[in-house]
This record gives sequence, structure tokens and C-alpha cells, in this order.
Amino acid sequence: METINFLTPEVSQADLVTFSEERVNLKQPDAQRYRKQVSDLREDLERYMAEHPDFGVEKMLLSGSLAKGTALKTIRDADVAVYVKGGSAPQELAALVQWLATKLRLTYPQIDPQKITVDGPCVVIAFSGTGIKVEITPVYSLGDAEGRGYLWDRSTGKKVLTSIPRHLEFTRKRKDKQPTHYAQVIRLLKWWVRQREKDTLDFKFRSFLVELIVAKVADNGADFSDYHVGIEKVFSYIQNTGLKERIAFSDYYKATSLPKTRMGVVEIFDPVNPENNVAADVTESTRMQLVTLASTALDHLSYARTCQTKGEALECWRDVMGSSFSA
Ligand SMILES: Nc1ncnc2c1ncn2[C@@H]1O[C@H](COP(=O)(O)OP(=O)(O)OP(=O)(O)O)[C@@H](O)[C@H]1O
Ligand SMILES: [Mg+2]
Repeated sequence: METINFLTPEVSQADLVTFSEERVNLKQPDAQRYRKQVSDLREDLERYMAEHPDFGVEKMLLSGSLAKGTALKTIRDADVAVYVKGGSAPQELAALVQWLATKLRLTYPQIDPQKITVDGPCVVIAFSGTGIKVEITPVYSLGDAEGRGYLWDRSTGKKVLTSIPRHLEFTRKRKDKQPTHYAQVIRLLKWWVRQREKDTLDFKFRSFLVELIVAKVADNGADFSDYHVGIEKVFSYIQNTGLKERIAFSDYYKATSLPKTRMGVVEIFDPVNPENNVAADVTESTRMQLVTLASTALDHLSYARTCQTKGEALECWRDVMGSSFSA
């Protein structure tokens, strides 16, 4: 019988950690600066609200990747949710964002009113200097303890009932189970998606969906402590299921609350609302693209393991993670 030669891969876990820290992840000091930027806005808002009890605004909450610790270095905006009170705020989105922009101009007299603008379903505050854009999504509050409210999905424009605090808790629970590694695997896959969006015509895939797929793979028992293996597990899941298997989570509702019939080509349900298929806008063509791209990535990654020279292994990894990959 032949002896099997187990090779040490040319690109190691340590190389992947260095690449992640240097190229992929938003650096800690930057993350802290952006969070401070938002907490300053929140403090001003709270002060203004205390002086104007009928303001119609409930609270401001950091949401999105900056809150979840999954932001990439290429982050362009800080996602913020402003909870508005039903009753005082307009119900139609167009009127609501205008209303909110007016309110925010009153709240922040120190900011040039022209820097507070409406952009689709959001109000954007632009900062010059070291700050980033703050993208404020109005959430029509239900006023309950779970922090539920209606928000308008940025890519579909659809009004959805959800809970940002519960989304943050959902992520936190999984981060606690696999500290550092869970968020890192999410960031590496978001990075991979960004590379494919650049080199694959008409391909786009949302961060929230990436995160929910990774959550499913983690819940299925995947160990993410080795990043090469970790991202392969996610690609294998996409390849094996073709993303035709319904993805849902039982943190906040029972599987029996999910719709009985199919809700879209791809079904990835909001962990807090069984009626909200976050993947409702994913087309068959995007699904097929993603499955093909995942299979290609798996080929490169498995070949990377067998390469005998660093140069060859680097080529494989660059095919997956882009030309900035180094080791
Ligand atoms: N369709 C939706 N239904 C419910 N919540 C949504 C939906 N779309 C976005 N969200 C909320 O908005 C948050 C931000 O989503 P987004 O896709 O911008 O991801 P992100 O983590 O901020 O990634 P990125 O770093 O690319 O901005 C999500 O974590 C979720 O709380
Ligand atoms: Mg975001």
C-alpha cells in the first residue's frame, strides 16, 4: 500500500489571519472612531428629545456590520436605525424620510443642513474629514420590548417587520460560541462576494444573506477555527444544497410558523420574522451564479492544499480572495 503524504499547505492559518487583519477587516481604531461618531449623534439626539418630548422620535441604534463586528475595511457607511413613533410620523416612506431629515436638521444645528440628505429609504449624514457617511434608516416602532418595527429594505424597497436588537443578539450568540472565528469567516466570505461582484457580470449578493448562510453552517456544527476549512464548509453548503433548501432559525419562532408554500427561488428567513424572506429578491440567475462561483472557489481552495510551491498556492488563493492576497 502506498503511503499517503500529508502536505503542510503553503498558505497557512497564520497567513490567513495576517491577510484578514491587514486587508479584510476594518481596523479596531477605525471601528471605534466610527462608533464614537454615531454615539455622539445619539447623545445629541437624546438631549434634543429630552427638551422636546413630542418630537416623535424614540431612539437611535447602531445596526449593521459596525454593530455586529463584521465590517470590512472597505466600509462606506455606518448603518443606523432611528425608531420613530407611530402616530406622529408619516406612514408613507417618501413622506417619512423627508419628515426624518427635517427632524435631524433640527437636532443637529452644528451640521450643515445640506449635509443631511434623503437617499432612497434612508437619511444620510455626510461627514468630512475622518468620519464616514451615516446612513439612517427610519424604523416605524411597534413600541414593544423586543424592539420590533417596520423598516424599508434598502435593496427591495419592501416594508418589513423585524427587530434590529434581536438581529444583534442573534449574531452575538453565535459569536460567543466561536469568538473571533465566527465573525472572521463572515468577513472573509463578504470579502469573497465583493471580489466576485467586481469580476462577475450582474452578480450581487447582500451581506445580510451571507451572514445568515454562515449562521446556518455554524448552527449545523461547523468549526470555524481554521479559516481555510471554515470557508470551504460554507462553499460546500452552497454547492450541496444549491441554495434550494430553506434556511430558517428557531431562535425566535418555531419552524411551524414558517409559510407552508415556497416564498421565492431562494428562501432565507429573517431570524425574527418567519414571514420575511430576506432572499425574496434573489433570482434564479443569481442563485445559479452563486452556486457556480462557490464550486469554483472550492476547486481553487482544494488545489491550494496540494500545491508544492508558495507561488502556485498564492495563485489559487488570489483566484478566491483577489489580487491583494498575499502570504
Ligand atoms: N430584508 C431585511 N429584513 C430584515 N432586516 C434587514 C433586511 N435587510 C437588512 N436588514 C437589517 O439591516 C442590517 C444591515 O444589513 P446589511 O445587508 O447592510 O448588512 P451589513 O451587516 O451592514 O453589511 P455591510 O458591511 O455590507 O454593510 C441587518 O443586520 C439587518 O438587521
Ligand atoms: Mg451595512
